Amino acid sequence: MKEKLQKIREQAIAEIENSEGIDKLIEVRSAVLGKKGELTAILKKMKEVAPEDRPKVGQWVNETREAIEAILDEKKKAFEAEALRLRYEKEKIDVTMPAERQEKGNLHPVTQVRNQLTDIFASMGFEIYEGTEIETDYYNFTALNTAKDHPARDMQDTFYLSPEFLLRTQTSAGQIHVMEEKKPPIKIISPGKVFRSDDDATHSPMFTQMEGLVVDHGITLCDLKGMLEEFARRIFGKNVTTRLRPSYFPFTEPSVEVDVSCFQCGGKGCRLCKGTGWIEVLGAGVVNHRVLEGCGIDAEEYSGFAFGMGIERIAMLKYGINNIKLLFESDLRVLKQIDD
Ligand code: DAH
Repeated sequence: MKEKLQKIREQAIAEIENSEGIDKLIEVRSAVLGKKGELTAILKKMKEVAPEDRPKVGQWVNETREAIEAILDEKKKAFEAEALRLRYEKEKIDVTMPAERQEKGNLHPVTQVRNQLTDIFASMGFEIYEGTEIETDYYNFTALNTAKDHPARDMQDTFYLSPEFLLRTQTSAGQIHVMEEKKPPIKIISPGKVFRSDDDATHSPMFTQMEGLVVDHGITLCDLKGMLEEFARRIFGKNVTTRLRPSYFPFTEPSVEVDVSCFQCGGKGCRLCKGTGWIEVLGAGVVNHRVLEGCGIDAEEYSGFAFGMGIERIAMLKYGINNIKLLFESDLRVLKQIDD
């Protein structure tokens, strides 16, 4: 009996040693130790063994089982360790390899400037009003003191959708909506797209404007000037100053054109400022009484100032872009250079 057990043991160990994978170990385990295994078969035959020999035979069987189990476990651990090693090998990362280039995107220059402007005005307490791109003739012109036969309508070539509807030519249309909907104090900016039948190196049929409107007790041109001074320093640099030149807009009285001192040459005269030392950046003025009254605001009690600027123009000045088309062609070689 002892020899038989010894044989089972040796054969099992040989098979375990020669096995090539965990599957084989499972096979050996069931063939020797399983319900129908060789050792189990011996135990079943215990009744044939003389009773006095049974404890001894039982002990041999147990020793054999333990020995085989120990080797099975050992081999199984070796297989698992090898599998892990192979996995690590396969997943090994060489941290010294050059990284794969990650393309980084950036916002469009017009969006960048629009965000900068919005941040500056928001920090001064302006709220944002987003108007609509399709407007009525009334909001775009009539309510802005620009009657049907007003010569100022010639200043802008309008895309009319019908005699009544048009693509807004100016964000100023938003002023009227705000003043109709809200009582003073009013302090809003209104950024958005505007449309004009106009197309050359500095004009595009679609461009972006930022309108501003402040209406409250005792607002004067001085308030406008003070605010613009701060605005110009924050967008163009802290050494910049502003000057107002008389101008004309139907919806403001007086009306001004706002220049900033040239931020490239500091006012000495250069190509950017065409030798004048000044750069025109926006139109503005004190809101015309007729506009306030038309919106139901008592012009005896309240006054206001308004301003409007072209965002593409600011972007072109800031980033030295000489043709507005570069802002609409989406050429990545251009757009990638501007990441403010
Ligand atoms: N809407 C004018 C334009 O498109 C710009 C402008 C000028 C807006 C004076 C204003 C303003 O609010 O007061 O040329």
